[in-house]
Amino acid sequence: MEFKEVVEKRRALRSLERVEITEAMLEKLVEAASLSPSCFNNQPWRFVFVTDNAKLAVVHGSLSKGNEWIQAASAIVAVFTKKEMDCDIKGREYYLFDTGMATAFMMLAATDMGLVFHPIAGYSEEKLKSILNIPEDMTLIVAAAIGKASESINHLLTEKQALSEASRPERLPLTDIFYINEYNPVNE
Ligand SMILES: Cc1cc2nc3c(=O)[nH]c(=O)nc-3n(C[C@H](O)[C@H](O)[C@H](O)COP(=O)(O)O)c2cc1C
Repeated sequence: MEFKEVVEKRRALRSLERVEITEAMLEKLVEAASLSPSCFNNQPWRFVFVTDNAKLAVVHGSLSKGNEWIQAASAIVAVFTKKEMDCDIKGREYYLFDTGMATAFMMLAATDMGLVFHPIAGYSEEKLKSILNIPEDMTLIVAAAIGKASESINHLLTEKQALSEASRPERLPLTDIFYINEYNPVNE
């Protein structure tokens, strides 16, 4: 896929169907993430993929209300990091920023592979860390459901969630988010 197509095709869809996620596919995803830039090349990101069905069922128990649609995901990846693993430049901490960039690389690679990669913040960090054996002092900043887009709307979706399957949630006008030469917001 062309870059533009990958960026435009990426959607946080919630109507998923099962697809086989092989180790080779996971390697491709991690390879893309590992090519992401990081402060001093610290590479503070770590990932745990869950592909085992029994384990996926346990992970479901750590998800927040509204995320029941994840039951149809074929894999879940937990993304975690630690402040000490990356730069702190006079109070500017980069671990979450760098880990987010790597996750975006992974997300676009997944899209290019024809997969849905849907990030979520709705989970109990404590429970999910315990299930996945992630040390307490690390921040589990995001998880993502990986699967294949389904033609039929998942019956577990709320009305609002179902609506957003068909059309991408609206974005701010570009003029609200960028400035040239200086920051000069007119509406604030
Ligand atoms: C950090 C983060 C957390 C999110 N958490 C959830 C979540 O818990 N549940 C959910 O259904 N979607 C979640 N989303 C998906 C967003 O709702 C979605 O990306 C947004 O509505 C824009 O839609 P689009 O990605 O299809 O363009 C999350 C996205 C991000 C980046």
